[in-house]
Amino acid sequence: MLLFSTNTNPDLTKALVRHARLKLGHLEIKNFSDGELYVRPKEKVRSKATWVIGSTMPPSDNLLKLLILINALKTAAAKKINVIIPYFGYARQDWIDQPNAPLTAKLMADLLAAAGADKILTFNLHSGQNEKFFTKPLVHLSAYPALAEYFKKMCLNNLLIFSPDQGGIHRAEQFAKIYGKKNLAGPVGYCKKYRPRPNVARISLPKGADVKNKNIVLVDDLIDTAGTLAGAAEALHRAGARAIYAAAAHGVLSGPAIARIKKSPIKEVLITDTYPMLKAKQIPKIKIISAAPVLKKSIV
Ligand code: R5P
Repeated sequence: MLLFSTNTNPDLTKALVRHARLKLGHLEIKNFSDGELYVRPKEKVRSKATWVIGSTMPPSDNLLKLLILINALKTAAAKKINVIIPYFGYARQDWIDQPNAPLTAKLMADLLAAAGADKILTFNLHSGQNEKFFTKPLVHLSAYPALAEYFKKMCLNNLLIFSPDQGGIHRAEQFAKIYGKKNLAGPVGYCKKYRPRPNVARISLPKGADVKNKNIVLVDDLIDTAGTLAGAAEALHRAGARAIYAAAAHGVLSGPAIARIKKSPIKEVLITDTYPMLKAKQIPKIKIISAAPVLKKSIV
């Protein structure tokens, strides 16, 4: 089977080609003089089942490259176009929180369908709400089994699984279900988050939360500026938690994220390669595991 990559996730793509029986197809990608993008598969694709891998985080050229590639495959009469979007950018704008607010999560799903995608595979969408926007079959994968496995092997005792905010409790519960009961000291806990403005998080613990001497794994879908994670870790640390770990599918790590993680009481942050990690952001506290084995199981 042929796989085409827009090159947003080079590490994951390499791992996937290794794990699954896929051949990486060649592409011609160029910009015209005015900057317009051109993407053309340099392989025979007519009547062939094809796979495409590309994330849709900024810059917008990532999205455009993906849409143009899907369109080129469609025009060339590929039999089936399966689109893997390791990190589905723009998924967080998924509800009308104020008059005239955009619904970019739906817009992205519509654009993919219009370009010619037959099936979409993606990891840990921001909310269940996102799933409703897809008109094409969606395979919603979870990186949590791979992340939970890592913590199982650590054999942490007296452990509590925590959500850094109220909105993420269901995610921490999903993670806890996968993790199992081993050494768990209680049900899933959560922090209270208040956002005075976008990208700013004020975090506290609910009254009576008992985390003294407990090991904690904070679970989230993504870490962006790490304000949520660092704030939750500080609150847990102040309340007497022992060692604090974090697990998230997507390590966006924008702006002050690395400085915040470095400064925070978090011992280790576990993320996957659904979001590319720049060398400059690699610090010993952050461990990356590949989402390729999970993805491979869906490639048949
Ligand atoms: C919020 O609902 C999300 O699950 C994440 O907690 C949030 O997007 C992380 O953002 P940041 O790292 O900037 O606090």
